[in-house]
This record gives sequence, C-alpha cells and structure tokens, in this order.
Amino acid sequence: MVETSGSVERPALKNDRYLRALLRQPVDVTPVWMMRQAGRYLPEYKATRAVAGDFMSLCKDADLACEVTLQPLRRFPLDAAILFSDILTIPDAMGLGLYFETGEGPRFKNPITCKADVDRIGVPDPEGELQYVMNAVRTIRRELKGEVPLIGFSGSPWTLATYMVEGGGSKAFTKIKKMAFAEPQILHALLAKLADSVTSYLNAQIAAGAQSVMIFDTWGGVLSPRDYKEFSLQYMHRIVDGLTRENEGRKVPVTLFTKNGGMWLEAIAATGCDGVGLDWTIDIAEAKARIGDKVALQGNMDPSMLYAQPARIEQEVAHILAGFGEGSGHVFNLGHGIHLDVPPEHAGVFVEAVHRLSAQYHK
Ligand code: CP3
Repeated sequence: MVETSGSVERPALKNDRYLRALLRQPVDVTPVWMMRQAGRYLPEYKATRAVAGDFMSLCKDADLACEVTLQPLRRFPLDAAILFSDILTIPDAMGLGLYFETGEGPRFKNPITCKADVDRIGVPDPEGELQYVMNAVRTIRRELKGEVPLIGFSGSPWTLATYMVEGGGSKAFTKIKKMAFAEPQILHALLAKLADSVTSYLNAQIAAGAQSVMIFDTWGGVLSPRDYKEFSLQYMHRIVDGLTRENEGRKVPVTLFTKNGGMWLEAIAATGCDGVGLDWTIDIAEAKARIGDKVALQGNMDPSMLYAQPARIEQEVAHILAGFGEGSGHVFNLGHGIHLDVPPEHAGVFVEAVHRLSAQYHK
C-alpha cells in the first residue's frame, strides 16, 4: 500500500511499535531505540564523519546525515530512526556562530549577553537558514522506505538558552542564572523567541516527514522546582500547544525529556505531551504509578550499564521491564545518550534483550 502526502509517495510503515507505544496502543514487544544511537561509538560513523570533515558539515550534507542516521539501524533491530542533527542548529541559524572545539564540546562566537543581543536575533525560517535540516529529514524519510518511523527533535528553549548565554557547555550555569534572577525580562524575551523558533522548526520537520518529535531539555534539572516551571516547562508547554499533532492520517506523538526531571513528572505530563522521557535516577515503576495513566514513558537504563558484561545488561533490562510491567506505554531507551567508548556489540545485546524479554508483558 502506498500513502500519498502532497506530491511525495510514501510507503506504509512496516514497524509502527514505537508510535503505538507512545499512544499506549497494544504492541507485540516493547519498542527500543537509543539516544545518540548514531555517533562515535560506531566505527562506520567515524568513517563517514571523516569524509564530511567537521560535525556541522556532516549535519549539512543531507546524504551523509542520512547515511549516519541509518548506520545503527543496519546493525541493530531498532524500532525508530532519529534525525541526525543537533539541538544547536537553531542558535547557529540565529547568527551565534556555532563551532566545536576538539574535546571541549560546542561553543558560540557571539553569545547572548544583554537585551540588545536578544533584540537582534530573529526566528529562523525552517525552509531558509535551516533548510539543510528539512532536506535531511526528507532524504532520511525516503531512504527509510517505511521500515521504522523517523523521530525529529529540538532542544528546549531553556536548554538552548543555556548554551547561548554561557557561550557553550557549562557546569555551574552562572551566567544564565544571573540573567534569570537579575534580569528575568531579558531571559523571558529570549525564551519566547526560542519557543516560537522551536515550534516552527518542529512543525517544519513534521511537514518534511518526521513521524514523531522529541524535545531535549538536558538542563531543566539544574533549576529549582519553581524556576523550572517559570523558565523551562512553561515554554515547552507553549510548544506542545503549537505543534501539528496529526499528519499523513496518523497522530504525531510528542515526547518531552527533562534530564533530572523526576521530581516534576506530573507537571510535565500535564503539558499534554504523549510521552515523558526518564533518566535513570527514577524508578520506572514509580513513574508509571504517578503518570502512567496519562502518558507513555521512555527510558530508562543508565547508559553506563552498556559497559557491563552481556548478562548484567540483560538483568538490568529485565528489571526495568518488570518495573513497567504489563501492557503498552513503554518505549525502552537509555536514560541519556550512549557513551562514545561503549562496545557496539553491547548495544546489540541491549536491543535484542528488550525485544526478547518484553514479549511476556504484551500477551
Ligand atoms: O540521537 C541521535 O543519534 C541523533 C543525533 C543527536 C546529536 N545531538 C548528534 C551529535 C542528538 C539528538 C543531539 C542532541 C543534543 N546535542 C543535545 C541533547 C541531548 C543530550 O545529549 O542531552 C545536546 C545537549 C547537544 C549539544 C551537543 N552537540 C553536545 C554536548 C555535543 C558533544 C560534543 C562532543 O564533542 O562530544 C554535540 C555534538 C554532537 N551532536 C555529536 C553528535 C553525534 C558529536 C560530534 C562529533 O561527531 O564529533
């Protein structure tokens, strides 16, 4: 069967477990994918990245971005593909000048320091400055040939703002907290622009073929409960309200992931998202008891568990599956990105164990 969307012919989805689980519809086994599943733990990724040169050149070449997106799917029976890109594409498109210092992570040439800097930036056009991302989405969707769904993503406004104000990664977040507490109106103006940018960026990814979207709030967990609601959750809620929730005749589920957000699960679920991502610092049984009647859960094995021997990895998978228990509504994942020095075979053990050990919970 062939579904048509505009002028693009699209084959029907062969494996839709991931989408079904996010909507808490019955599945045969628990779907699984891994945050950062395309990356430096795979030798084939390193080879393609060497061809591209630097990381952003890899993101900007639709064919190479597609190639690295598909690499983990050739090795492991994963239930979803995730767009190969980065959360920092939006600030880069806003003119902040993203670059990567070897061994030091992302940096910006022109960080945000004052009101004039915020006034200067605009909402990027997803089919303009960010068209390379949409081209990657279209290419990947075509090359997936309906095997598994494609996940699009963005950073949360708060997480993007941390990089934009700190000028790169941070441990103490002093600059952005100073702005939040000393000049909150400047930060709110920035967060509002970011929320508009993320909404149009994700809607464009959906229009280009993303079948689900995820918002990474990597740094929401460094805030106090009240500040989390004011500076992070409020803006994710605004984005959820503005997203296209149905396309090509199917629901487009949205997942919110706040690292270290276990204290605030009820508030996250109340945004109207379909799935809530969990890191490993919360027991999935507790998370299910608290919000499992409202949303699906994604997670939540400690990524460092992939350093363990296969038997230990399988034992951990079994614990987490038992914690979630019977029925649909669980997308298995790591609680954060896979580490770059994990043996790829251990990732294979993990994925296979999720499928094999979860069948008993879906009778
Ligand atoms: O999950 C996937 O496979 C899709 C690709 C993806 C990347 N970044 C590729 C990438 C996704 C979803 C991201 C999101 C991202 N980027 C987040 C949120 C998720 C999280 O991990 O919390 C954040 C905070 C970033 C910012 C960023 N980009 C960092 C901290 C780094 C690492 C810098 C380094 O040198 O390790 C990047 C670069 C980056 N993004 C890499 C990859 C594969 C490594 C670049 C390389 O090949 O050298």
